Amino acid sequence: MLKLSHLSQQVQPFHVMELVKKAEGITQAGHDVIHLSIGEPDFPIPSLVSSAFQEAISNTNTRYTNALGLWPLREAIAQHYWDTFQVKVDASQVVVTAGSSAALNYACLALVNPGQEVLLPDPGYPCNKTFVQIAGGVPRPIETSSAQNFQPTSQQVEALWSDNTAGLLLASPSNPTGTRIQTAALAQIAELTARKNGFLIMDEIYQSLCYGSPAHSIMQIIGAPSDKNGVVVVNSFSKYFGMTGLRLGWMVVPPHLLSSIEKLAQNLAICPSTPAQWAALACFKPNTLDECERRRLVFSERRDFLLKALPQVGLHLSSNPEGAFYLYLPSPYDSDPFCTDLLEKAHVCAVPGKDFSEVDGNKMFRISYANSMDNLVRAVERIEKFMNGLPN
Ligand SMILES: Cc1ncc(COP(=O)(O)O)c(C=O)c1O
Repeated sequence: MLKLSHLSQQVQPFHVMELVKKAEGITQAGHDVIHLSIGEPDFPIPSLVSSAFQEAISNTNTRYTNALGLWPLREAIAQHYWDTFQVKVDASQVVVTAGSSAALNYACLALVNPGQEVLLPDPGYPCNKTFVQIAGGVPRPIETSSAQNFQPTSQQVEALWSDNTAGLLLASPSNPTGTRIQTAALAQIAELTARKNGFLIMDEIYQSLCYGSPAHSIMQIIGAPSDKNGVVVVNSFSKYFGMTGLRLGWMVVPPHLLSSIEKLAQNLAICPSTPAQWAALACFKPNTLDECERRRLVFSERRDFLLKALPQVGLHLSSNPEGAFYLYLPSPYDSDPFCTDLLEKAHVCAVPGKDFSEVDGNKMFRISYANSMDNLVRAVERIEKFMNGLPN
């Protein structure tokens, strides 16, 4: 009998895939399922990016690039930080990766020793645990509540930090909650991780999808990643630029980390997709930035609609989701059967919290508003009917 590795058995599946499979069955049976489950923008890739991608293919710009990415793209990303946040980033510290997934993977492999703990807010993005485990590390949850907007405090980090802690991985805005960490709290956490000589991986993948207040970066607080501050910034072309399938992200790393990341990138991927990198250069053109800004406003309208409509059908949010395209809500009953019932009876697919939280995932569920306003309106009507049919 073929023997599988311990790691392969440790990795958790996405429980939601079971639900999505069920949704496919319902669709095949002729029903129209409205998906509030999807973690990717419902827009096509921006038009200039699409043309640049096609041009790269027809110009046969398809050979390997440098493992750290195309230099002009690294420069463009560094320039973008200056233009947007007035933060000076040296292009040599920018590494282009296959989505932020590869960046998170490389960062953990370069910074975590077997047996060391990495602190991860709970609820959080499920793959983070796996990235830590692949490096031989031990994920340690920081339990957060809606009262603290699902973002950790420096007091919590300090209380959980031990001699065996390697660092902390944070996301703001976060998946599944859409909440952002306050600047003061982030500054305290960054000061703490630096004082402990640990790392802080800051996942800013939803950075530019913010509503109500402007986008921010940890680099506005601490400056560019340095060997002293131990911060690694992670970002992606997937969400704001809507390029999920092109598999492109980036990281900004302290100089001391660069050669380790380069070796890992050379060995694990050789380089990120070449045509995707040429295409991504078009992201920073004014027309693309305008297109993405218009899309952000569409997300903002959808969010406002749901924030008003959901309480009217008995679903009350207890946190303040200021970013991404997610709402994380208390479930009327155990979120696993609730999401199954919602799918089977109302044909609306939402995600139970157990993918995101070991603590109280069964009490929560996630809605994604990466779907058209028409579909959101129809989904709320269906949810209302379903909720009205629940026993009191
Ligand atoms: C918080 C967070 N980080 C990272 C990722 C990985 O995204 P990608 O690899 O497409 O950049 C996701 C995807 O949903 C996410 O939600």
